[in-house]
Amino acid sequence: MGFVVAVVFCIVVSESWSLQSLTFPKEFKFGVATAAYQVEGAWNISDKSESTWDRLLHTHPSLSDDGSNGDVACDSYHLWRRDIEMAVELGVDMYRISIAWTRLLPNGFANYISEDGKRFYNNLIDGLLEKGIEPLVTIYHWDLPQSLQDLGGWANPLVIDWYSDYARVVFTLFGDRVKTWITINEALVICDGGYGKTWVPYIDDMAIGGYLCNKHVLLAHAKAYRMYDEEFRPLYHGKVSISNVFFWYEPETPEDEEATKLTIQMWEGRYAHAVYSKAGGWPPEIEKFLAANSKREGYPTPRLPPFTQEEIDYVRGTYDFYSLNYYTTRLVRRVKPEEAGSWIFYGNKELGIAIVNDPSWPMASFDWFAIHPEGLRKVLHWINNTYGVSNVLITENGLPTYDASLYDFNRVSYIKSHLEQILLAIKDGINVIGYTAWALMDNFEWLSGYTVKFGLYSVDFTSPNRTRTPRESARFYSSVTRTRSLNTTRHGLNYY
Ligand SMILES: *[C@@H]1O[C@H](CO)[C@@H](O)[C@H](O)[C@H]1NC(C)=O
Ligand SMILES: *[C@@H]1O[C@H](CO)[C@@H](O)[C@H](O)[C@H]1NC(C)=O
Ligand SMILES: *[C@@H]1O[C@H](CO)[C@@H](O)[C@H](O)[C@H]1NC(C)=O
Repeated sequence: MGFVVAVVFCIVVSESWSLQSLTFPKEFKFGVATAAYQVEGAWNISDKSESTWDRLLHTHPSLSDDGSNGDVACDSYHLWRRDIEMAVELGVDMYRISIAWTRLLPNGFANYISEDGKRFYNNLIDGLLEKGIEPLVTIYHWDLPQSLQDLGGWANPLVIDWYSDYARVVFTLFGDRVKTWITINEALVICDGGYGKTWVPYIDDMAIGGYLCNKHVLLAHAKAYRMYDEEFRPLYHGKVSISNVFFWYEPETPEDEEATKLTIQMWEGRYAHAVYSKAGGWPPEIEKFLAANSKREGYPTPRLPPFTQEEIDYVRGTYDFYSLNYYTTRLVRRVKPEEAGSWIFYGNKELGIAIVNDPSWPMASFDWFAIHPEGLRKVLHWINNTYGVSNVLITENGLPTYDASLYDFNRVSYIKSHLEQILLAIKDGINVIGYTAWALMDNFEWLSGYTVKFGLYSVDFTSPNRTRTPRESARFYSSVTRTRSLNTTRHGLNYY
């Protein structure tokens, strides 16, 4: 026992000592991120049409915590030059943006391309490239044209064609300059959120609609990936992937070990296995579990719609890197189904689990957001060990606060401790290729409205100028990008 303690102690000491001297590899890229609906505003300018977010918050303003919406947001539609300037100030290699489907294709369909939308994204992309910053573009970050939602949205299998037609327009217009693409951001939120009535389209039908959506987003992603592979990669040599939000899960007690494995497959595998695993398709243990639930409930076929072998082969391997959004780690506890209530309720109810917090971990502003940086290194190992994929781009990571202070040392500490885990994972032999901090600036944080801050820059939402001001975390991050290490000081003081 004494020996084990001594060995563990040595590892901890040697790791923290060596962290000071570790630097990020030469090819490692630093970035920051935003998404169209959260920053652009200009929701009805020119010929832009209504998205599902526009519709939901115009008709149900009380759904957001402060009754607000993204009509103006950070007004980046007009202030994009300042956004680029901030990316330059931060010294980042890349800026992750998303394209608003309704700004580019107001009809939802590819028969008509908005000149205004085309000009806006061309300006933004060219402006970044002029400053030597790589645009990392998400094609779909949750803002579906309302007209397509009216036709069934992600629950309608035709969405696979609607989406891939849109993706073809995006690749055609911007593929010569954009080399890193995310097809779809956090499909889990689109489906489990959207059909669990916690997100647009705010429909209470997870048991059926959510799982249809789950299958369709994977097929839509695959169709866009294969299109890029065949038509655009030979010309532009870019990379394409789908981004997943991956909460790490640990068992509350040793008895919860099996439930925890199943939970990871439910919340990550259900959106990743089909793409990244060697076998493809649904995670077998989840497919079996949900088929048994469906049968018990009297459904003639499983609610999680099976893939055909052809579909399995079509989706499998449609990635060039693993796009990972990591924020938090939670504990899993087995409970009676009727007790299983939580943020992403329905899936937990299906499994008969509750998601709880470890009381020893610090919490962010939300009750679901425990701060546990070690979880990131574990996720990176899990991805490598489960799928044999080791090139991972961290496309989101950041800290939400209700505190708008410019002296956001808690955000500095959050980012720093997660970058430490990345350095350790790289040292372990995992090929983490970059890190994109969420977010460049405070923005419209979905149903939290403007009450929650994620920004390295604060934004004054009371000013028509939406004035951006760097926080302490912006200073910290720019010293990281310049030294390419965590050995950063301010006024001669170490950040530790
Ligand atoms: C656009 O929306 C704003 C509200 O955000 C409204 O005041 C304005 O009249 C609208 N403009 C047009 C052209 O509909
Ligand atoms: C990553 O996975 C491969 C294949 O399973 C394995 O050989 C390798 O040891 C793993 N790397 C790390 C750092 O665990
Ligand atoms: C907004 O910006 C304009 C032009 O830079 C400036 O003249 C004006 O004073 C600013 N207004 C506020 C409220 O900051």
